[in-house]
Amino acid sequence: MDDVFETAATDARAVFLRDVLKGLSEARKTLPCQYFYDAAGSDLFEQITTLPEYYPTRTEIAILNAHAGEIAAALGEHVLLVEYGAGASTKTRILLEALPSPTGYVPIDVSEEFLLHTAQTLRTDYPDLPVHPVVGDFMIRFGLPSESKGRPVGFFPGSTIGNLSDEDILRFMSSARDLLGDGSQFVIGVDLRKDADMLVPAYDDAAGVTARFNLNLLTRINRELGADFDLSAFAHRAIWNDTASRIEMHLVSQRAQTVQIGGRTIPFEPGESIHTENSRKFSIDSLTPLFEQTGWNLNKQWLDERHYFAVLLLSAD
Ligand code: SAH
Ligand code: AVI
Repeated sequence: MDDVFETAATDARAVFLRDVLKGLSEARKTLPCQYFYDAAGSDLFEQITTLPEYYPTRTEIAILNAHAGEIAAALGEHVLLVEYGAGASTKTRILLEALPSPTGYVPIDVSEEFLLHTAQTLRTDYPDLPVHPVVGDFMIRFGLPSESKGRPVGFFPGSTIGNLSDEDILRFMSSARDLLGDGSQFVIGVDLRKDADMLVPAYDDAAGVTARFNLNLLTRINRELGADFDLSAFAHRAIWNDTASRIEMHLVSQRAQTVQIGGRTIPFEPGESIHTENSRKFSIDSLTPLFEQTGWNLNKQWLDERHYFAVLLLSAD
């Protein structure tokens, strides 16, 4: 396809192997969470969004539906909507339908097959809207597709910002500021701090979908890097870390074992964990200094009645 853009011409498999070996060589083993999203991982994430325990998606959709007119009025005309980590672009449709005259949509995602399928569906449903998908890591600087037109507005829903460290938020917001430009606006969804009784089930659901999402990372490493993880020997865990205000996802080794990856032998003790994801739960006040340091001001905020989730409107003044 000639209308697909790559953020960086790197050897994806070599980068994946390097990142996996680096994470599994640390004293406390980790794996980067963006690797959850191959085609199967993106499908599993979509299933998560419909689970009774996973409140963020339906809460953010309700906020967007309730305030779409006000958000669209604040964003104005001729918007080129640039979405970071677009997934199925479900929430995007709410904005696209409310905006007076959007000039295009640029979804960015690492999950290539899923992204291209979503882009095709959007083209069918919105025949007048130019859709320019960008395959790649939004943490790596990239340019807007040359044929995209209009006033760039950033969209970062889902509280995907909660999967980033402070250092990564600063890097991300600063490159978004450079990409979107002076006077641009940015709509960001943020999951707020709440009781652990509600958070833990959201990341450890009764149907076991989040467990499958977490374990799919090992399936992907086996398939793409020729590793030999025994999936039955790792268990999904979701832990609330109150000090860091985050849900942590882990894969815990159920016995002493070794795993072969790319010519290396990785040992695991019984009970040893691979930390696969942080999902931070914020107060808005804790985020505004990070936004301000990177040239973004908080202009408006919309919350649900129970204050579970916030949609923030930032501007690069
Ligand atoms: N925006 C959607 C999907 C959120 S899931 C929603 O709100 O429901 C997070 C999405 O971000 C996934 O589609 C995943 O593939 C993508 N993603 C995660 N890390 C990424 C990265 N570093 N660069 C690009 N896309 C990323
Ligand atoms: C994409 N991201 C914001 C989700 C979250 O809630 O942190 C990913 C996820 N992990 C487990 N369940 C959902």
